[in-house]
Amino acid sequence: MTEQLLSQDPGFARAADLLQSGEQVAFATETVYGLGADARNDTAVAGIYAAKGRPSFNPLIVHVGSKDIAQRYVVWSELADKVAEAFWPGPLTLVLPLRLETSISKLVTAGLDSLAIRVPAHPSAQSLLQVFDGPLAAPSANPSGRISPTTASHVMNGLNGKIAAVLDGGSCAVGLESTILDLTGHPALLRAGGISAEALETLLGQGVSLHHSATPGKVTAPGQLSSHYAPNASVRLNATEWHTGESRLGFGNVDCDLNLSETSDLTEAAANLFAHLHSLDRMNRPIAVSPIPETGLGMAINDRLTRAASPRQAVEN
Ligand code: TXA
Ligand code: MG
Repeated sequence: MTEQLLSQDPGFARAADLLQSGEQVAFATETVYGLGADARNDTAVAGIYAAKGRPSFNPLIVHVGSKDIAQRYVVWSELADKVAEAFWPGPLTLVLPLRLETSISKLVTAGLDSLAIRVPAHPSAQSLLQVFDGPLAAPSANPSGRISPTTASHVMNGLNGKIAAVLDGGSCAVGLESTILDLTGHPALLRAGGISAEALETLLGQGVSLHHSATPGKVTAPGQLSSHYAPNASVRLNATEWHTGESRLGFGNVDCDLNLSETSDLTEAAANLFAHLHSLDRMNRPIAVSPIPETGLGMAINDRLTRAASPRQAVEN
């Protein structure tokens, strides 16, 4: 059985103990729940892949408590500092060169010489990192190929009995995974997410385009394997009218079963996206979704929806 811990004193200490002893513990971040393990412990990291049933060629994001701690693990730069100052703690992951003398498990980086790292803003994640006092590898806390969890009960639905504990930090405010920015070369957006491309472009003073292309053998970010974040039900996008028998996921002023945002607010829609998909999936009917504008967080929402709608051959995450 998986322990359900509360985000307060005995809960943090218990979660940190379990992590110290190599167990996997799910915790809340502002984006989605992460399935954490000690990033320096090969066996603990292997346990993440086992619990998720995840293909092991996909590298994981490491979570640390501060920008200063991040610099123990990656080669820092002026540009990294500028971006981190602007967006950390928060829903942005930076890919930077891994330090040579690193203690990070090779299973975390899947053997790459770069590391994806972020400082989460959620107070529960911050406190856990402080008590645990080490780097936590954490992909989203869902079985491979399924919708990302934004509440502790989503985590339990998918992983009960497969992980040691879930630390309940309420529901995730952003509701979408972090944006991934590769700074190992010319800045490149590897995944749209909680920080919009426009916000990054304003800071960097240059365009950052999303890299969709997949080079076999070279891992970039989710996107190589197109079907993930997938509900059991089929998903139909850009629905401007509803078909009989469908679950209707609306956006804006439309008649529907669940609305991502009645006022067409993309931030609210992002926060609701995975929870609404979880709820509609339980109705066991095809899901139809209103068109979502491709601006700001809409880019990340459409990316997740497109993956949810794509055929289910290969899955990851
Ligand atoms: O919001 C988030 O980022 C959540 C929460 C829990 O923090 N975490 C998350 O992790 O989405 P995960 O493991 O599901 O996604 C990590 C993605 C992988 O798909 C991988 O391709 C990319 O980050 N990634 C990791 N390390 C990388 C690296 N060295 N170079 C390029 N991409 C990398
Ligand atoms: Mg995921």
